[in-house]
Amino acid sequence: MQTKIVDILSVKDELNKIQRAADIIRSGGLVAMPTETVYGLAADGLNEEAVKKIFDVKKRPADNPLILHISSEAELHPLVSEISDWAKILIDKLWPGPLTIIFKKSDIVPSIISAGGDTVAIRMPDNEIAKSLIRLSQTPIAAPSANLSGKPSPTNAIDVYVDLNGKIDMILDGGGSEIGIESTVVDTSDDIPRILRPGFYDYELLKEIIPDIIYDDALIEDDQRPRSPGQKYKHYAPIADLYVYSTKLDDKIGRMQSDVEKYKSENKNVGILTFNENMPYFNADVMLNVGSKYDIREMARVLFSKLRDFDRMGVDIILAEGVEEKGLGFAIMNRLKKSAGNKVIE
Ligand code: TXA
Ligand code: MG
Repeated sequence: MQTKIVDILSVKDELNKIQRAADIIRSGGLVAMPTETVYGLAADGLNEEAVKKIFDVKKRPADNPLILHISSEAELHPLVSEISDWAKILIDKLWPGPLTIIFKKSDIVPSIISAGGDTVAIRMPDNEIAKSLIRLSQTPIAAPSANLSGKPSPTNAIDVYVDLNGKIDMILDGGGSEIGIESTVVDTSDDIPRILRPGFYDYELLKEIIPDIIYDDALIEDDQRPRSPGQKYKHYAPIADLYVYSTKLDDKIGRMQSDVEKYKSENKNVGILTFNENMPYFNADVMLNVGSKYDIREMARVLFSKLRDFDRMGVDIILAEGVEEKGLGFAIMNRLKKSAGNKVIE
């Protein structure tokens, strides 16, 4: 299969290209689409054969359910059997945007989407290309992140191409993702609203909207079985071995540089992932920065693409500076720790 990359500079003037992508979706094919969080691998969410292709192409475990993407609130109602008051408030305040809400599902949602469970995850993305594609496809769009399972999520068209070239019909190139980290997943299908996956919308903000909201136990205690199946898999991992250095260390930078020297003496190609301000303190083979330490949104935006850059440069070991686990920093550390297979130095 030949994968076409189609770039879109103006949705208004290039609707014909998005229509071609919608035709692919309607005939059961796969299209990678930009969203404000990360790129998604889109298929007709009500077509089981098409959804099965997503699992095959990504090599995704079948017990990991998918998010359905919609472009208006009217599209929600046929997909769910119940909308709690908390869900209504979240929809009102935070949709469209980087928030996925879990509902009790209706019968029209195929069990391949819900991985056999009785709930369904739904998101209304805030990206003009994604919204137009959903609208023109006239069906809810199933879309996991458009990476091979286990790899960092793609935040630009080239990163999608590296993982999926030859396996999908089209990539809609809408430039770099603005947010760079996946949506926050909140389960409203149970009595107590729970955050299953931290994301751009942080705990502090959600708590203002829903005072009763809690984190799923699995996010704070390592030995709990996660309610969001995706949280249990090795994820976001570059080829290189990654270590995260906690802010709890007294001399984080000194410790990192002395470890650089240790690994270099073992003839390893060592990478450092740090903030712009700290670059002068390091001397490693490859040094990449995630922007200013005062701008954590920039870190979220570029994190996954930097991890993929290390792979392209043939680095063996990456030493990454951690951040404080508050606000958006909680979601960033959730991703970094998973990238590291939990190798945290503290
Ligand atoms: O920002 C995002 O959410 C991106 C863009 C493309 O929309 N999508 C995304 O999808 O990150 P994916 O499949 O890579 O991650 C979806 C997460 C997984 O952790 C999955 O286990 C969880 O949502 N999930 C999906 N359906 C669920 C359900 N019914 N109950 C609990 N967790 C669910
Ligand atoms: Mg994913």
